[in-house]
Amino acid sequence: MSLFANPSAKPDSPYSAAERDVISLAGAAEARDAISLCPAYEATPLHTMAAEAEAWGINAVYFKDEGPRFGLNAFKSLGGAYAVARVLSAHLSEQLGHEVSIRELARGEHTVLTAPITVACASSGNHGRAVAAGARHFGCQAVIYVPGDTLEARAKAVESEGAKVVRHSGTYDDAVRDVETTARDEGWVVISDTSWPGYEDIPKTVMTGYTVMAAEALEQMIALDAPRPTHVIIQGGVGGVAAATCGYLAETLPDDYPTMIVVEPEAAACVLASAQAGKPSPATGDLQTIVGPLNCQEVSAIAWPILANRVTAIATVTDDEILAAITDLGARDTAIGTGPAGAAGYAAAKQILANPGMRETLGLTSNSVLLLFGTEGSVAGVGGG
Ligand SMILES: Cc1ncc(COP(=O)(O)O)c(C=O)c1O
Repeated sequence: MSLFANPSAKPDSPYSAAERDVISLAGAAEARDAISLCPAYEATPLHTMAAEAEAWGINAVYFKDEGPRFGLNAFKSLGGAYAVARVLSAHLSEQLGHEVSIRELARGEHTVLTAPITVACASSGNHGRAVAAGARHFGCQAVIYVPGDTLEARAKAVESEGAKVVRHSGTYDDAVRDVETTARDEGWVVISDTSWPGYEDIPKTVMTGYTVMAAEALEQMIALDAPRPTHVIIQGGVGGVAAATCGYLAETLPDDYPTMIVVEPEAAACVLASAQAGKPSPATGDLQTIVGPLNCQEVSAIAWPILANRVTAIATVTDDEILAAITDLGARDTAIGTGPAGAAGYAAAKQILANPGMRETLGLTSNSVLLLFGTEGSVAGVGGG
């Protein structure tokens, strides 16, 4: 594992209008209201990790376990399915000339109009599964492009939501470009978890859905009478969930903003490459990792400005460190099943806290309170999952 400071970090600077245009408390509240209307909505568990806190020599460790999220195995359903609902609601409202609510869509009141609509995206599994589930729930079609190295179990999970899965021969970033081109010809609506100049509104909605995860975690910590988190480790794929989490915490805890650390695979570190270049820049690694969902070469355009300001450091982890973390989590007294992306934060924490220099750089002491996100549950075929 390696740790790099973000040279442009200004974590205590006032949250700017440009940042608020991407992640705002108003947007987060709207997403929470809509998502919690779903009968299957339930906050995911927050585990208190007393044994780790003791072994690692800090005050407390909390682990937000997204495995049970909506039965879809990852936090991604908070973004992808929510964005499908918002897109269909906006589309039908315009077509019918009156407001069509997400609730009406969920009740199947407009299936004649939604059925001919196709939503599409590129995904190594979790986002695609979320979009597919949203399409099924709200009554439209879904086509999901999966990169060539996508695990069969992940592709099958997307298919089981009723989506058409197209196996792309290239990487996630190649699939993003191709699905966008094909969508233009076919009239599909792209529901992407990444963004690029000129395509921003839908990924903003996706990211806004992700804020529910951090909102729940803070509420659960308050309910446990826990101190505020002083340090948070969050996974970086395209940087969407990291920026959503940073933005939400900056807005919610302006005076107690924690030290934010993004964790990426060593071979696919686009947040790190961008931090080092001072602008969005492609990862230089070979993208050969076991962490499909974090195998992203390019950072999301709208995520970058928030990450540039609010992330203090970037940790890069290896496949072996991740596999060890999956094993550790599964061997705890209270076992937690995670996939490789889910275990990445724990893997980074374990290494950082065993390293006196890194502890000092990040200001980790016996008073520190660490919040980790287990962003996905077990995945068949990785780490005994
Ligand atoms: C389980 C899991 N964790 C983390 C991420 C990273 O999210 P983002 O691409 O928004 O940075 C993903 C992305 O697919 C994921 O599926």
